Amino acid sequence: MERLGPPGLGSGSVLLVFLMSALLRTADLRICSSCKPHPVNCVSNQCFSNCSVSTECVNEQDVCAAVWWRDAGLVMVETLCHDPLKPMLGVMVEDILISECVLQEQNIHGRHLRVCSCTGDQCNQNLLLRKLTEEEKLSKTNSSSGFRLKQNCKFCDVESSVCNASGVCESACGINSICETPDEVCASAWRSNGGNSSIETVCHNPALLFHGHNLTDSQSRVCQMRRVEEDLYICSCNDEECNDRLFFNHDLKQYPGVQFDPPSESSWFSLAPVLISVFVLIPIVLLSVFYCYHISQHKLKLPNKKSLDSERCNIFMNPEEHSDSSSINANSLNHNTELLPIQLDRVVGKGRFADVYKAKLKQSADSFQTVAVKIFPYEEFSSWKSEWQIFSDVELRHENVLQFLTAEERTAERQYWLITAYHERGNLQELLALQVIGWEEMCRLGVSLARGVAHLHSDRTPCGRAKVSIAHRDLKSSNVLVKSDWSCCVCDFGLSLRLDSCLSPEELANSGQVGTARYMAPEVLESRMDLENTESFKQADVYSMALVLWEIMSRCSATGDVRDYEPPFGKLKGHPCVESMKDDVIRDRLRPEIPTSWSKHAGVHHLSSTIEECWDHDPEARLTAQCVVERFDDIINSDVILPISPDTKSAGDSGIQEM
Ligand code: ADE
Repeated sequence: MERLGPPGLGSGSVLLVFLMSALLRTADLRICSSCKPHPVNCVSNQCFSNCSVSTECVNEQDVCAAVWWRDAGLVMVETLCHDPLKPMLGVMVEDILISECVLQEQNIHGRHLRVCSCTGDQCNQNLLLRKLTEEEKLSKTNSSSGFRLKQNCKFCDVESSVCNASGVCESACGINSICETPDEVCASAWRSNGGNSSIETVCHNPALLFHGHNLTDSQSRVCQMRRVEEDLYICSCNDEECNDRLFFNHDLKQYPGVQFDPPSESSWFSLAPVLISVFVLIPIVLLSVFYCYHISQHKLKLPNKKSLDSERCNIFMNPEEHSDSSSINANSLNHNTELLPIQLDRVVGKGRFADVYKAKLKQSADSFQTVAVKIFPYEEFSSWKSEWQIFSDVELRHENVLQFLTAEERTAERQYWLITAYHERGNLQELLALQVIGWEEMCRLGVSLARGVAHLHSDRTPCGRAKVSIAHRDLKSSNVLVKSDWSCCVCDFGLSLRLDSCLSPEELANSGQVGTARYMAPEVLESRMDLENTESFKQADVYSMALVLWEIMSRCSATGDVRDYEPPFGKLKGHPCVESMKDDVIRDRLRPEIPTSWSKHAGVHHLSSTIEECWDHDPEARLTAQCVVERFDDIINSDVILPISPDTKSAGDSGIQEM
């Protein structure tokens, strides 16, 4: 039985809804924009969808509707016909009788979504983030563009920010927008809400109030934060992308609620002379302050498990709750006759079968979004197809799995493309080779990697829906990307395998020894995997993941023993072959070295044991990826993180230890 409204609607409301539907009824069926989730461009107060698919709605009372959300830094919209008598995503949508689609914020299962509906044909093509004020309507019609250039600003409202100890927060916004008028400048609003923070980045006309406040700094070159309400800070500036980096004053105590990371390696070094002199004068006081500071940072900064769990359960992937489940599939081939307007920039990765480019996806005449494009030559059709087939499962979507946008066949260039999110920090191997990381970054990288792998392996989404388990089969640090908030996402599904019941005997027989020799589990090196048992593929992935976790840990300053970056089994240079890996991993039972110094920090020690359990020679004895997530969560949420003892010394030079 279909429900005609939310539970508990009184008879008066039912009558009202009935009258409303009668009003909306016309002889003709409405035509609405109707596109699966796709990225859109938002300029000022409006979001423009380049959706070119329209449908005639099924029911006479149907209105046009849209759902808006953010995913990995992209603004996504799904447009559809909607029966106003039914809830959309579990809530009744208000304001259905208006001709413009004005998005209304909804908090559905812990996710911030915006939904709207409207009554004109295709009125859901352009979406308003809020109703225009009279002033704005006026300024819209009056503003003349003159010859002044329009500003290029960041335009997002991401849910988290990364702040460093020098008082600079980065917006993590991947969307640029050329402002609508030359009067507009870049502006940002930083809000703290019960421990969560969000940064909104927009173009804004300083003649108008911003969140109810005057923008007094609109001609500044940088965005200097000003507290205007208890939990609200704003700034504006007039320079290209100047609202990406938000400057708080050096007196960080001025900003209750803003969580600044502990100083980075380099700032510690620059503070060294001061620290040393203070250390000599009052060592005991300093040590206890330092110790308390560390503990409070861990408690404050690391994500709370509960809140993350609810965020991870992505409402958009829930067909039961969605009025038009057939249309939910972002991960499909771009069947539009027109190819996406993409301009390739530079190569950012070279793979076995394809190269990856940083590229600009044009959103409107003067704005673009940065994306990554993996380009396969025509000869590599089967590699493109198999990676696309893995990606095309909408249930694969996860914050720790590279976000797929679409696939295209570029006949003119004789190429096949996979278009994905772009991550500026690049791959984990490159990052670790260049940078030493702190305890907190190590935890973020490690737990998110384990979460990504656990999601691939799982036969359930975080919301509990069925999904096909995937074995990655080529996990290595160069196949992991680092996002702006220091979490990871797993990429390159070229060798991945769907572990569903339909695996043919040939597929199984051909699936023995694939991957990169350096990261291959012993049973893979020996071609002795139990191919009948799908768990064996996951166990081999966990072994490879353990090597990546070791790489992350080896660059963490909390171990007290950070050496130059080396890949696992680093003494084997270049791309070692299977035979030489067999000598190390099987004949000599070698694994990367866990220096004794790592046991001087309780957290590092605990994680080292976890890593060792993951690279056990016996596949059955290895932990599952989910268990690794739980181990990290336990450490992250535990109250006592012991600092390293001051006498920590390097425990030797070899990068390899015997098992
Ligand atoms: N290298 C390979 N894929 C990438 C991506 N999506 N973003 C950034 N660098 C990459």
